[in-house]
Amino acid sequence: ANLAILRGRGVQILEPEVGRFASGLVGQGRLPETPTLMGFIRRTLAQNGPLARRRVVVTAGGTKEPLDPVRYITNRSSGRQGYAVAQAALDAGAEVTLVSTVEHLPIPTGATRVKVSSASEMLEAVLQAATSADVLIMAAAVADFRPAVVATQKIKKSDDNQTGITLELARTEDILLAVKTLRQQSGYPRCVVGFAAESHDLLTNAASKLERKGLDFIVANDITAPGAGFEVETNRITILDAAGGRSNYDLLSKTEVGQVIVERVREMLTDKTS
Ligand code: CTP
Repeated sequence: ANLAILRGRGVQILEPEVGRFASGLVGQGRLPETPTLMGFIRRTLAQNGPLARRRVVVTAGGTKEPLDPVRYITNRSSGRQGYAVAQAALDAGAEVTLVSTVEHLPIPTGATRVKVSSASEMLEAVLQAATSADVLIMAAAVADFRPAVVATQKIKKSDDNQTGITLELARTEDILLAVKTLRQQSGYPRCVVGFAAESHDLLTNAASKLERKGLDFIVANDITAPGAGFEVETNRITILDAAGGRSNYDLLSKTEVGQVIVERVREMLTDKTS
């Protein structure tokens, strides 16, 4: 009865978890694990945040393009930057769909996770989620090529003297270009953000992707710069926007980069609705 009164007053209640107690009994009565508690507190604090009721789709991780039943082609993306963007969007109160290839990172509490593996699965999931989304943030490292033929059985070497084989690759579809077409027809998503991870000619390449893919802004990072790229906790970014603006940021943690991106999205949505 006391809990019902508290709920009636708008108090958020996190139920105890089911499990084994110190006494050996099993039932509902365990203190939730710290990540569950922290996630619940974050969501509760965010409920009236600047992106409350906004639907945000974030993609994360490198795609895996199958070659045969045991092998695939992938890249060095860890998915950490995408997960940090998803967490920042959740902290701002958004409803977040995380389209992810990643197996080993905890899913931020409150996010709806859509598990995908290949570029074509990611395309399908993104198109489905993006039709009703306010925002799409494409942090995933999507393969540009996949094996042209996926062998149904494990590829074997033919004999011990064979010196190599040649793999034929075919182009994958560009997800952001497909979203551009969707957006031209429906107006959704209202804000689309891309990433450009480059090893050379960073700003020229990023500007051309911004234009060609019809983005609102692009997050460019030089993967060869110290402290930036795939297997580190930090990132060094420049944001280029469709109006020709350019912002350089100091070395930031991936968490901070996520917050910068979400703040830029918030400004953009405010401009579009005012
Ligand atoms: N991207 C995409 N679909 C693809 C490839 C990339 O939507 N098939 C998205 C990425 O998620 C990223 C942006 O496009 O947000 C730029 O990705 P990047 O790999 O840097 O660019 P590419 O278009 O692959 O161009 P290039 O191969 O010339 O670097």
